[in-house]
Amino acid sequence: MNASEWWRTAVIYQIYPRSFADSTGDGIGDLNGITSRLDALHELGVDAVWLSPFYTSPQHDAGYDVANYCDVDPLFGTLADFDRLLAAAHARDIRVIVDLVPNHSSNEHEWFKAALASAPGSPERARYIFRDGKGKDGSEPPNNWQSVFGGPMWTRITEADGAPGQWYLHIFDVSQPDFDWCNDEVRAEFRRILRFWLDRGVDGFRVDVAHGLIKAPGLPDYTPPPVAAGSMGDGVAACPPYWGQDGVHEIYRDWRVLADEYPGARIFCAEAWVDPLSFAAKWVRPDEMHQAFNFAYLSTPWEAGALRVVIDESIAAFSGVSAPATWVLSNHDVVRHATRLSLTGKNLQGDGIGPRSPGIPRYEDGLRRARAATLLMLALPGSVYLFQGEELGLPEDVELPDAARQDPTWFRTHGERYGRDGCRVPLPWESEGPSYGFGPTAASWLPQPRLWAQLARDQQTGRDDSTLTLYQRALRIRRARNLGGGELTWVRGCGRSAVAFTNGTLTVLANTGGAPISLLPLLSGSHVLITSSPTVGSTVPPDTTVWLAKR
Ligand code: BGC
Repeated sequence: MNASEWWRTAVIYQIYPRSFADSTGDGIGDLNGITSRLDALHELGVDAVWLSPFYTSPQHDAGYDVANYCDVDPLFGTLADFDRLLAAAHARDIRVIVDLVPNHSSNEHEWFKAALASAPGSPERARYIFRDGKGKDGSEPPNNWQSVFGGPMWTRITEADGAPGQWYLHIFDVSQPDFDWCNDEVRAEFRRILRFWLDRGVDGFRVDVAHGLIKAPGLPDYTPPPVAAGSMGDGVAACPPYWGQDGVHEIYRDWRVLADEYPGARIFCAEAWVDPLSFAAKWVRPDEMHQAFNFAYLSTPWEAGALRVVIDESIAAFSGVSAPATWVLSNHDVVRHATRLSLTGKNLQGDGIGPRSPGIPRYEDGLRRARAATLLMLALPGSVYLFQGEELGLPEDVELPDAARQDPTWFRTHGERYGRDGCRVPLPWESEGPSYGFGPTAASWLPQPRLWAQLARDQQTGRDDSTLTLYQRALRIRRARNLGGGELTWVRGCGRSAVAFTNGTLTVLANTGGAPISLLPLLSGSHVLITSSPTVGSTVPPDTTVWLAKR
């Protein structure tokens, strides 16, 4: 493998800036906070970080509503702070990927304001998706599409003369109008934005909603199958008219040519919630993006049979287009895997959980399973994304008071869906500090649970049994043995509840069942390198993963 293709094996750590570290004490994390904590990420052993949006934004969707793509929101700092962060990360051999949000802007973006101030049919309107309404007086939305966050996907505007006017499309919140990617001005603007960040030295982009930019011609009505309500992906290859349209791919081919002009392998990672994996692989054909989050893997329950199938399908689908599989278990949109994998209540992606949700596991049980799941993931060939706080074993915060919630999903569904705040609670760094060391004051944009005191990084540092130490060791071994660049071969005969395979010199066994599994068949000539929970004699207990190496 070409050594410059760092992204094929990289471990990339997602930083959610508002919740990572706060340098000012206003309760919202910022760029200088990140810079001040980079040593912790270096010690963890990650190859790169991905920063969720820190651009100028009214923050109606935590920064995924961008008003100026080429500046830093004062909440997070300045462009100079960003440059310092980038240099400090590079000095530690940590690459930096930024978030690109091309599907929609904020309604406070200059272009959208100009669109509202201009007449129907004007070039200003043509950068977004404005349509006349249906019915008498145009008072009904142009079609029946429902927003991912709940409610209609269309909002009617008032024209400059005060009359009820056209409707504009927003797949997400009303504050996030969709661009019209058939418009050349939009395409040119995003080339400019890409160059702006590439020229500054970023190593790549995570591309938000990479399956949504092109809508089916004519914007036909669509009724999703009931199971998919509220989901980002709808779980079918026959996509709804706003997801997975073939036209998105020429956009990424164009971007790839642009990024390839730059030295050092600048990459794109697709956030494309599409099924099946063979369809997702289209985003990472050799002339398109480099990585696509493996959401099929993220969505797989902790069940050996299902895991074996999804791992096989992932490797087949992505290697079929010469791309790495890009494993992920948690991010800022899903219930943290220390809770999710043990939930017994039904929970659709994006719905979130809260005090009234059924089937929430005990913390210890959820953590045990999460540690096993992580150790399994970190042994797989390909690239891996981690979400900030998972290395501390943070669970979803299920006790957030309703009054503290900020996710637009909560508001647009009138509290029917909790939304994603529970995975976004600011990190604990020091058990004794105000806001558990998140910042210099007690302020925290979401309240932190008391459990944070015991999970704070300073409590876990250097402790043999901590989750932080487990991640550090596993990442060290992963790198030393080049597991990311390895090859998986299944080991049969360990039982139905086992996920067992070799990757190079390593043998891995994960027990997803309720009974112990004997290690004896695997032990001859091997020794245990690392386990997610203590093994008992020569058996692997339930919810445990073991890595073995030849003596
Ligand atoms: C991001 C979400 C965001 C949405 C709209 C997603 O896929 O990850 O956090 O709300 O796009 O930008």
